[in-house]
Amino acid sequence: MNNNLSIKYDSKDHLFHLSNDKVSYIIELVENKYLIHRYWGSKLKNYNFSNKPVPQKRTFAAVPNDDKPEFSLEIEPQEFSCPHQGDYRESSLEIKLQNGYSVSNFLYQKYEILDDIPTLVELPHIRNEKNISAKTLVIHLIDNINNIKLMLFYTILENNSSILRSTKIINQGKDWVYIDKALSASLDMNFDNQDSISLYGSHQKEFQINRQKISHGKYSIGSTRGASSPQYPPFLGLCSSNATEHSGEIYAMNLIYSGNHFGQIELDQYYHIRLSMGIHPDSFRWKLNPGDTFQTPEVVLTYSKDGFNGMSQEFHNLYTQNLINPNWRTKKRPLLINSWEMCYFDISEEKMLDIITSASELGFELIVLDDGWFGKRNNSRSSLGDWTVNTEKFPNGLQPLIQHAQKNNVSFGIWFEPEMISPNSQLIKEHPDWVVHVPDYEPMLGRHQLVLDLTQKDVQDYIIDVLKHYIKNYSISYIKWDMNRHITEPGSVTLPSEQSGEFFHRYILGLYRILNELTSSFPDILFENCSSGGGRFDPGMTYFMPQTWCSDNSDALDRQKIQYGASYLYPSSAITAHVSDVPNHQTNRIIPFSTRASVASSVNMGYEMNILNLSETEKTDIKQHLQWYKNNRDLILFGEFYRLISPFDSNSNHCSWMIVNKEKTSALIYFFTKSFDVCELSFSLKIPYLNPHYIYHDKCSDKYYSGEELAHAGLAINLKEGDYSAIEISLTVI
Ligand code: DGJ
Repeated sequence: MNNNLSIKYDSKDHLFHLSNDKVSYIIELVENKYLIHRYWGSKLKNYNFSNKPVPQKRTFAAVPNDDKPEFSLEIEPQEFSCPHQGDYRESSLEIKLQNGYSVSNFLYQKYEILDDIPTLVELPHIRNEKNISAKTLVIHLIDNINNIKLMLFYTILENNSSILRSTKIINQGKDWVYIDKALSASLDMNFDNQDSISLYGSHQKEFQINRQKISHGKYSIGSTRGASSPQYPPFLGLCSSNATEHSGEIYAMNLIYSGNHFGQIELDQYYHIRLSMGIHPDSFRWKLNPGDTFQTPEVVLTYSKDGFNGMSQEFHNLYTQNLINPNWRTKKRPLLINSWEMCYFDISEEKMLDIITSASELGFELIVLDDGWFGKRNNSRSSLGDWTVNTEKFPNGLQPLIQHAQKNNVSFGIWFEPEMISPNSQLIKEHPDWVVHVPDYEPMLGRHQLVLDLTQKDVQDYIIDVLKHYIKNYSISYIKWDMNRHITEPGSVTLPSEQSGEFFHRYILGLYRILNELTSSFPDILFENCSSGGGRFDPGMTYFMPQTWCSDNSDALDRQKIQYGASYLYPSSAITAHVSDVPNHQTNRIIPFSTRASVASSVNMGYEMNILNLSETEKTDIKQHLQWYKNNRDLILFGEFYRLISPFDSNSNHCSWMIVNKEKTSALIYFFTKSFDVCELSFSLKIPYLNPHYIYHDKCSDKYYSGEELAHAGLAINLKEGDYSAIEISLTVI
């Protein structure tokens, strides 16, 4: 037990104080009723209300007590806010009673302190394992008029500046109610000219960084697509206006959820900011029967005083240690070759046997048979749902491939898109009611396919059975789980009309049930998450699947931005990248092999190129690259990843990042140049995050420098001629 980890209630000052070595989070209980946010930031030994403003009366503000006109919920920084109680900012919760009204007034009831991380039933969450000490403050609030209880959870962990928040709503009354909105957390702060920080994107352009000035009004991100989406992953934060990768304060939220989500920053008239996050309230309405409980997803609130790299280290450490499946946390990930860009749908037994032979010769460890192996799937118009082996392409089934792989000492994996169904499939004929749709409306197609209704237990069981069949009957060690369209006409035949607003959340609960069943029954299968690339790359999916194909765009220039953005949240082991052919299939760009190899080998690497017609030089290059990666794999997957130069800076012609082991004795520096500039003779790269007292050997130049010199004077990088170049520098303490 870490003694500096503590949650205390000071009954004299009415303060809850959560703290560890790094941070303090402080809540004041006012009048034994209201939870007022006082502080979150660097650890404080004591708090004596230094930042509490002198209460001021606003003539037109609504007040709970007319004798105290200076206390209005409109002005106070609250922990959680209810609508129609004088606080006109974004509310955290909305409950509609059967009389049609949505007023609620949750007041403090009691608190408890647990020596644990709470386990969220049915939802992925930061895992409660004994590898880390944690404490949880549970604050109970009650609305005595409608008999609803609200429980706010705050978890603090040792050695991490994150606070985990979630809520539970319990109907203690005699009548059902509707929950129209249930966010996971909201955080009120003073406006200090901070910027907002979020991620946006699209298919093939995921994880773009968006920093902008905050001005009066509301700025929101979110998804109503049924998936967390590449458009806006569930991440939103505030950063001080001078924040950089290396310095400045960041307050960020990341929701552990894979469905419709909502994040918002609101700046009000009193220069107060509210940061909110949770399930998207649009298309959400949950009927809560007497005695029932609704659990919101968990949100990770992370604080950094060391800029964006500081924030990322907190996320990376937390997700590596307590989110990713323990079985895969520090396990080497196999070097794979994927058939998709090599063959698309044009695959066959003969081709796959050849691929396996040459992959094994080159040094790959896993062969992945992507789309096109089942039903009558010769293009994207057919067979999803009909998960039987395509006998025209594989007349002898998959076994000969697997046996050949075993003989050649490589593992075998396959692709599925389990949540989808093709309109011409056998499955749809047998189960037309399994399709997501609403009565009378023709469901729209996306990539020529429909979505299976995962709210239905029969559908969930069908998917579980299909996957179990393949895992049990075929020696496969890896499954790529794809999902290639978003939801339209959200409806299920099994949901009564008063529960139709539950569809989206129930879909995600159904997905989580399937994934929980499969990953706990087969802990040794490596699952890779994919949704047309990184379309559903979120902490919820990362809980079940330790790695995600982060973009269908494998162009090494675009990938620099995508991987740079993804590294805001995820450790390198969770982000997969493939070396692919040129001209690139998405951008037509021609980038040298060394740069394609370098960008992909900064994270969890694989290949996705034609390896059947390689020249001898290409074979040698690939063999050497795979061997280099194997030698450095532990450092790359499990070292500390720091961003140095942003490809998002409009003036920058470069991008750079580094990976260093925990002991700071071994580091890899990656430096990329977009276009060669004849006048840029050399670049001086400052390399922080080393140990200033250690002497590092630079293998390329065979010179020795102190960590201090590299951090402050920098290292001269001699730029290569030609566009799209990459330079890797290896530094080791001898
Ligand atoms: C989309 C994925 O992102 C690709 O990698 C590939 O698996 C295709 N689907 C197959 O249809």
